[in-house]
Amino acid sequence: MGVHWCAMKRCGMKSAFFSFLALFCVAAAAQTPSTVRVNGPRINDHLSALSKFGANPQGGVSRVAYSEADLQGRSYAVTLLKEAGLEVHVDAAGNIIGSRAGKEPRLKPLLIGSHIDSVPMGGNYDGDVGSLSAIEVAQVLREKQITLRHPLEVIIFQNEEGGTIGSQALGEGLDEKRLNLVSQSGKTIREGTRAIGGNPEQLASVKRQPGSIAGYFELHIEQGGTLEREKVDIGVVEGIVGILHSDVTIEGFANHAGTTPMDQRRDALLSAARFIEKANQVVTSVPGRQVGTVGWIKVEPGAYNVIPGKVVLGLELRDLDEKKFTGLFDQIRSEAETLGKLNQTRFSFTDPVITHPALTAKSFQKLVDDTARSLGFSTKVMPSGAGHDAQEIARIGPVGMIFIPSIGGISHSPREFSRPQDIENGANVLLQTVLAFDARD
Ligand code: GLV
Ligand code: MN
Ligand code: MN
Repeated sequence: MGVHWCAMKRCGMKSAFFSFLALFCVAAAAQTPSTVRVNGPRINDHLSALSKFGANPQGGVSRVAYSEADLQGRSYAVTLLKEAGLEVHVDAAGNIIGSRAGKEPRLKPLLIGSHIDSVPMGGNYDGDVGSLSAIEVAQVLREKQITLRHPLEVIIFQNEEGGTIGSQALGEGLDEKRLNLVSQSGKTIREGTRAIGGNPEQLASVKRQPGSIAGYFELHIEQGGTLEREKVDIGVVEGIVGILHSDVTIEGFANHAGTTPMDQRRDALLSAARFIEKANQVVTSVPGRQVGTVGWIKVEPGAYNVIPGKVVLGLELRDLDEKKFTGLFDQIRSEAETLGKLNQTRFSFTDPVITHPALTAKSFQKLVDDTARSLGFSTKVMPSGAGHDAQEIARIGPVGMIFIPSIGGISHSPREFSRPQDIENGANVLLQTVLAFDARD
């Protein structure tokens, strides 16, 4: 519009004025949706500001869900969402949702977002990059006065690190078992959800029907080293692994460490050590990308001079194929029974808590890939070894994910780092993907 107006009304004027007009015309043209860009320094400033909440001495954050730091970070996110002109509310599951009306209200909403909770001793990028970039997309739409055809929802999902809790409330729903799980904060999911402004009694109001959204896009750091190693700008995610968690209890007999002969002990920690080795052997005994980890362990009573009587540890298995990791779990359980007999200890496993794997929509992969290339970025189609809110949202509609490089492939660590330019690139891919999707769908 601006270009036409210039051409018709002014272009016959004196040539001294013409170059100014040409510049004006270019500036006006730069406002068209395909040429709008995010404000990279602003996203990176917001990242630094968010990193203050729960900052740990190692340079990362410890902002586990439902902690004081999480509450502070969430309140900062609400401020940014409001500044971006969004209608903000906290749903019954404790997710923060910023909404913006579309030109065609009969269209289903388009969702973008991520999470801002962290693992204990986490970094400043996991979840934060995608959350703040999604807010930036809304801010740019406001500044450029662009109204999408679709209603837009920017969602900051609660407690991603504790098992994609907030996104699961929208997708599969949260059952009693999940609500009773104790999170890293020490609160159960139910207590934590209440503490952040949700209402666990009203979860039915949050669940969305399959087919009720137009789609969901999430930008995230890769958390592995592939993109950096191969010097690729943007990862196009093809699928997100499923995750199985089970608490393993090993009961032995606590006794005097000085007077109990070596052949008369029922040492729970020794049995646990053998179990960890065995679990690793089972996971690596078949070809594929599956991974298995024992990530935490508690020993009782925990003294130099007492043979450990009880151990509880956390077993995690991941793969894109759920049958594969549940099969490995069964195998590990049966190996544990054999080990228990040999070491005179007793193994028991809690029922596995499973986050299902999900594939991204092929059409969304293509859209992300085409958009990234049109912006001049190199791309690679790749799986995600980390879990994401997108895998829960995949139950109710098509999802797409955009990855940017993680330096050194380090994540869930204070040393997690992504370059400011890569963050800006990823946010521009998110913005342009949203615009392209909106124009097309
Ligand atoms: C989530 O970040 C996970 O992969 O554990
Ligand atoms: Mn994450
Ligand atoms: Mn994470």
